[in-house]
This record gives sequence, structure tokens and C-alpha cells, in this order.
Amino acid sequence: MATKWPEGVVSAASTSLGPYGASASRAATPSVAFGDISPSRGESASAIAIVAETATDIATREVLLDEAMGPKRRKKSSEKLRRGRRPSEGLAFVARDASGGVAGTVRLWDVTLGEGGPAALLLGPLAVDPSLKSAGIGSALMRHAIAEAARLGHAAILLVGDAPYYGRFGFSAARTGSLAMPGPYERHRLLALELVEGALDGVYGTLKAAGRKLKAQQLISAA
Ligand SMILES: CC(C)(COP(=O)(O)OP(=O)(O)OC[C@H]1O[C@@H](n2cnc3c(N)ncnc32)[C@H](O)[C@@H]1OP(=O)(O)O)[C@@H](O)C(=O)NCCC(=O)NCCS
Repeated sequence: MATKWPEGVVSAASTSLGPYGASASRAATPSVAFGDISPSRGESASAIAIVAETATDIATREVLLDEAMGPKRRKKSSEKLRRGRRPSEGLAFVARDASGGVAGTVRLWDVTLGEGGPAALLLGPLAVDPSLKSAGIGSALMRHAIAEAARLGHAAILLVGDAPYYGRFGFSAARTGSLAMPGPYERHRLLALELVEGALDGVYGTLKAAGRKLKAQQLISAA
């Protein structure tokens, strides 16, 4: 069954193996977005699918991130929560173009909200191939990631980013005043979305990494 997406992207059922071996493949994500990038917005029409990231996407994803975000991306405080960890199970996605290339990327990471606090997800980085900006790929990645996080039972998603962009997906700084990142960040850019109502009630403290650790070989690939 296909569902209409806001920017003309259409979703359809599909399955793809997860990137990090057999345990991840058990949790392969079943739903995927397929569609056409709108030629009316200046891009050439091409099919895009939002699928689970695979190991063969890693090198291209890193090149895309460098192009979209520049070299300083590795110094962000979010990176402290990601370094040496695997993404949350079943929550690493790419936007794949018709030729199999990576047109966009988003991953979510397990964190705890404060010392011994409740579990949540940290989203990022989200990036789209600069030549394909404003074609709806970022939104398709976001909506897919949020839907999958909810389907997998997660209670809340946090991120550091621009409220004017992430507000359209329901993120705001309204519930993050008592939370902090483990390093420099702009307080008004720490945003959150509750997937379960009340999940952020009473939370406080600094976010802590809680993800599964990368093995030595995976550390080399992720570098
Ligand atoms: C931010 C990003 C992921 C958006 O992807 P995209 O595929 O271009 O986004 P969409 O097509 O879904 O949405 C485009 C709309 O968002 C707006 N938008 C993009 N970035 C924005 C921002 N930082 N603040 C406010 N609006 C923004 C665009 O102006 C456009 O508006 P329009 O629909 O009114 O024309 C992409 O521009 C990107 O990779 N940027 C560089 C990396 C980055 O900054 N990532 C976020 C850091 S966590």
C-alpha cells in the first residue's frame, strides 16, 4: 500500500537489511519511502527511497556529511554522544537514489537524560546532498525516522538544530530547559519531540551516551 507524502514523496512497503550485522538485520525496518523529487522545484526527477543504511553506504555517507556540513561537524557536542557507538537498533537510514547512491542520511542514537535518567534518542546528523536540497528528502528522512522510532517504542527524540526547520516535525525547546549537552552548544537549539506524552516530564541533567559500542573493525569503518 502506498501513502502520499507531503512533498510528493510516496511511501511503499519494502525491507532492507540493517548495517551492523545479524542482530541488526533481525530488526530490519519494514517501511520505506519511495517517490519522485519534484522537477517543478528545479531538480531532475528521480526516484528516492528511504531505506535502512547498509555497511556499503558508510563511505558515501561520510563524504556526503563532509560536503553538507563541513569538517567542523566532528567537533559538535552531539558527536561526543555518538563516537564509538552504534546507532540505535534499526534507526540508521539513507535516502537512496535510482542509481543506488546516497542522497541523504539520518541516524538516531541511544542516550539517557541525565545520570540514571530515562532513555531517549538523539537524532543526527541529518544531511542531504547539497545538489538535491529543498526537494523534500530531508523531510522524508525525518518523518520516516520519527515513525520508526515510535514504532520501535521509543519515548522521546532530542536533537541540536534549527527550530525553524525542525519545528515542522513537532520539535521545540519547550521541554529541554533542564537538559544539557556534554559540551558547547546553543541552548535554544536543543530541541525535543515526545513520542509518548509526558516522557520529558521532570527530566534534568546532561545527556549521556547509552548506545551499543562499536567493535574494533567497525571503529575503523566509522572513522
Ligand atoms: C537541513 C537539510 C537536512 C534539509 O534537507 P532538505 O532535503 O533540503 O529539506 P526539505 O526539502 O525537507 O525542506 C526544505 C525546506 O526547509 C527549509 N530549511 C532548510 N534548512 C533550514 C534551516 N536550517 N532553517 C529553516 N529552514 C530550513 C528550506 O528553506 C526549505 O523551505 P521551503 O520548503 O519553504 O522551500 C539540508 O539542507 C542539509 O543537509 N543541510 C546541511 C546539513 C545540516 O545543516 N543539517 C542539519 C543539522 S542537524
